[in-house]
Amino acid sequence: MKTYLVTGGAGFIGSNFILYMLKMYDAIKIINIDKLTYAGNLENLKEVENNANHIFAKVDICDKEALMKIFEEYRIDYVVNFAAESHVDRSIHDPEVFIKTNVLGTQNLLDAAKKAWETRAGFDRRKKFIQISTDEVYGSLGDTGYFIENTALDPHSPYAASKAAADLLVKSYYDTYRMPVNITRCSNNYGPYQFPEKLIPLIINNCLNKKTLPIYGDGLNIRDWLYVEDHCRAIDKVINKGLIGEVYNVGGHNERTNIQIVKTIINYMSENLDKSISEDLIRYVEDRKGHDRRYGIDPTKIKEALGWEPTTLFEEGIKKTIHWYTKNKAWLDGVVSGEYANYFKKMYEDS
Ligand code: NAD
Ligand code: DAU
Repeated sequence: MKTYLVTGGAGFIGSNFILYMLKMYDAIKIINIDKLTYAGNLENLKEVENNANHIFAKVDICDKEALMKIFEEYRIDYVVNFAAESHVDRSIHDPEVFIKTNVLGTQNLLDAAKKAWETRAGFDRRKKFIQISTDEVYGSLGDTGYFIENTALDPHSPYAASKAAADLLVKSYYDTYRMPVNITRCSNNYGPYQFPEKLIPLIINNCLNKKTLPIYGDGLNIRDWLYVEDHCRAIDKVINKGLIGEVYNVGGHNERTNIQIVKTIINYMSENLDKSISEDLIRYVEDRKGHDRRYGIDPTKIKEALGWEPTTLFEEGIKKTIHWYTKNKAWLDGVVSGEYANYFKKMYEDS
């Protein structure tokens, strides 16, 4: 029975990963630690609240003592580090917490795992630390080409810089101590439980509430979209089959301009849910500072080495996602109140 320490498991991808793993495997135990920031929500895990193989503890990865206690209490086999401040716009307004959680938090976690796992003879190579990183560490592409695993790191936002710093720390623990690690760098995820500050759920939520749809700059920036369950399957492959010390890019060649994404959502919602949702809601607003123009992942390595490929077509995934948000309006209404309402006001109404 393998024991996974999942950090940030109450957030978007972390909670999808826990639900996926508990659906796939009976004989695993998941210890989920999360600080429960504005982005962490235990409602995401309602389906597994009575599952004895899922144990939740409210822990900040910056809290060294609490982390040590977790490693003392449980015999952890794998650490899967999702915990992070994840929103680029917030990092532009207030970088500090990004450095604390994404950089120092990752280092604390590496140290706690190292203390628990290292022996005189070195590391047990069946243990592994998996750092969930992002294509944003590579910076921005021109009209052609793709990010491969050894594309130079060139982060532009404080968020991307903090994730790149964390990646380098993880790499250094492999290079220096031979600690068993993998790093995954995935493209933009979408799907259930994503916090509606991110483009796709924000547009769906604003359409549902007939609010304007903010498009940064000219709307022609390109992102490479992946349905979250495909990402979870990739992480599972990397944990079980990934070669120690390797980086794996995760993506499915699903590039779209932002305006294409927004129009796809409007058209589908207008045809299937409410005819009054229309392109009249679109507003071009001031561009994001340092806005990366294009991301595009080359997933050849993970496909050839681990046999992973995405299975959800974008056209299918976006419909499933829109239906999920419309059916889970109570979840949406819950997360947009409180702290988020203040953030949204600061972003759009004070300016
Ligand atoms: P999210 O913001 O939805 O969730 C982050 C979770 O981490 C939340 O539950 C939050 O409470 C928790 N957290 C924050 N600070 C913490 C701390 N100090 N200690 C413990 N828990 C803390 O983010 P997400 O979109 O699910 O992203 C998860 C990971 O995947 C991040 O590391 C992110 O960089 C990476 N990633 C995200 C995407 C994407 O498109 N969303 C793509 C590639 C990689
Ligand atoms: O590429 C992976 C990254 O994807 C992850 O590492 C990040 O954690 C995740 O937040 C995401 O970052 P992006 O900045 O690409 O995602 P976001 O949803 O914030 O924005 C997507 C694009 O849409 C981007 O070009 C900015 C634009 N945008 C975003 C918002 C919120 C708008 O035009 N209007 C908006 O209101």
